[in-house]
Amino acid sequence: MSVVVFGSANMDIIVRSPRFPAAGETIIGSSVHTMPGGKGANQAVAAARLGCRTAFVGRVGADAFGSELRRSLADAGVDVSGLRTDSRSETGIACIVVDDTAENRIIIVAGANDAVGGDDLDWLRIELHRSRILLVQLELRLDLVAEAVRAAAAEDVRVIADPAPAPLEPLPKEFFQPHVVLTPNETEIEALVGYSVATDESACRAAVELTARGTGAVAVKLGARGVCWSTGDVAEIVRPPAVVAVDSVGAGDAVNGALAAALTEDLPFRTAVRWAVAAGALAVTRPGAQPAMPNRQEVLACVSEMDQTTARDSRP
Ligand code: RIB
Repeated sequence: MSVVVFGSANMDIIVRSPRFPAAGETIIGSSVHTMPGGKGANQAVAAARLGCRTAFVGRVGADAFGSELRRSLADAGVDVSGLRTDSRSETGIACIVVDDTAENRIIIVAGANDAVGGDDLDWLRIELHRSRILLVQLELRLDLVAEAVRAAAAEDVRVIADPAPAPLEPLPKEFFQPHVVLTPNETEIEALVGYSVATDESACRAAVELTARGTGAVAVKLGARGVCWSTGDVAEIVRPPAVVAVDSVGAGDAVNGALAAALTEDLPFRTAVRWAVAAGALAVTRPGAQPAMPNRQEVLACVSEMDQTTARDSRP
């Protein structure tokens, strides 16, 4: 396997609503759908859709949602031999509201994701032998994720670490190592550096600051502004193409999965970020998380469009 994901699987219950309700307010939504999600499972699907051999290690409950999540991963070509069905837990659930501007708000009930433990780490260690990239997020216990990052270092496997949801405690030292690529969003990097990244200049400064703390590379997900990346002293923002956004759920996961897939092909980091930006932009044009992940042809076509725009814009 080239990519292994150690992470969460949730069933997303997605409600569309013109806007988010205020505290104590009841408003009328327009639709509700259940769709496969979970940051870990989404990232696995995103990498697999790009043709990357991908394995997933995690847990679902012994219920209908668990079976559906297993099927969704397998249908995308993800190896699910490390996905355990936990008979004592229910499958993780994410309650998601998406408004008319395509923004989302999410509450997660971890369920079986909280039951992931040491024996899953043992399975992960076996997968790491045949992997080039480990993808992690923070919907599993933080100590287990830190242990996974350490195990990857021992196997000389690069790690893409998505510090989401933002942890309540400081990120462990394992995340600030040369083999780690950190991929925070705006809120998460602001928590890490302690200032706003609302301007491009401050986003670049924050990305450089994180690499100075020991992380090998940083790719900050700035939503519609693109991705700001740095592998050292300088940072650059890769802009997304213009798209009509309908649903931003899972867009960050598309970025992580595509970054992983591109890095397994030994592409330069800058090119890998362009794949990631294209995948994120395409994902927001479709509803849901896993169903929205673009395939390889779509991403490559979008990257080539972005290249043409960059060339046109830089003409004197
Ligand atoms: O990143 C989006 C994902 O976050 C959703 O699919 C939801 O399950 C939560 O994990």
